[in-house]
Amino acid sequence: MPSAAAPLVEQVGDCILVVASPAAQANNDGLVFFHRGEDTRLSRMNTTPARSNPTVLRHPLIQHKVTMLRDRATPTKIFKELVDEIAMLMAYEATAALPLEPCEVETPLERAAGVRVAGKKLVLVPILRAGLGMVEGILRLIPSARVGHIGLYRDHATLQPVDYYFKIPGGAAEREFFVLDPMLATGGSAVAAVSRLKDAGARKIRFLCLVAAPAGVAALQAAHPDVPIMTAALDRELDAQGYILPGLGDAGDRLFGTR
Ligand code: PRP
Ligand code: URA
Repeated sequence: MPSAAAPLVEQVGDCILVVASPAAQANNDGLVFFHRGEDTRLSRMNTTPARSNPTVLRHPLIQHKVTMLRDRATPTKIFKELVDEIAMLMAYEATAALPLEPCEVETPLERAAGVRVAGKKLVLVPILRAGLGMVEGILRLIPSARVGHIGLYRDHATLQPVDYYFKIPGGAAEREFFVLDPMLATGGSAVAAVSRLKDAGARKIRFLCLVAAPAGVAALQAAHPDVPIMTAALDRELDAQGYILPGLGDAGDRLFGTR
């Protein structure tokens, strides 16, 4: 049995060592990753505790609807309805940890204790254009949410995001932001959107998407480790054009019928 102060050194796979103080590990803290051959005195890497990010929603209704979305035969009208419904189901999960505060309510019979969601209003921030498809479904659950907009598109040649519009409500530091985009591919758009929100003062940000690629998840986590990612599907890889495989194709084109 190692002493509480002694570090554990454990090989994981072929090339990574995990070094941890057992005491810190018990708190889910203090994990340090080193690649084989690196000088461990110099090469400390991310010490963020391992947590389940992204959260992949396994609800049967979500999985059923994602499969329909993937189907190339699904027409624009149904595609739009499915995006809307999945976003609504995701919002139920994404809001599970919103803080509550006590309040009182007058029933027809007497005064009663109740609760309400605390703090400034939540802000939904779709990344234009495809993110727009997720807004209405979430607003049906949270009608008082504000809606900001971030205009970004991916240059087809460079795959780099090009920024063209930004508008969010004031008081960003006290608000919760849900950034919405059906697709997290290279992650370029998501990273740029979250950076833009942080520049505007936002501190509490979540990213909600329908289909994510491992590369996009890694890029977003690396740039913004404080931003939880929630997705309905985590796919295999990107193709040479930066499309997600198996994916669902171009989400914007399928939502708006522009193909
Ligand atoms: C799509 C999608 C994301 C982005 C994802 O938008 O809606 O915003 O690509 O790719 P990335 O992770 O590699 O940045 P697109 O640029 O096609 O614009 P659109 O929504 O206007 O169609
Ligand atoms: N954007 C999309 O709309 N689809 C992809 O597969 C990748 C980026």
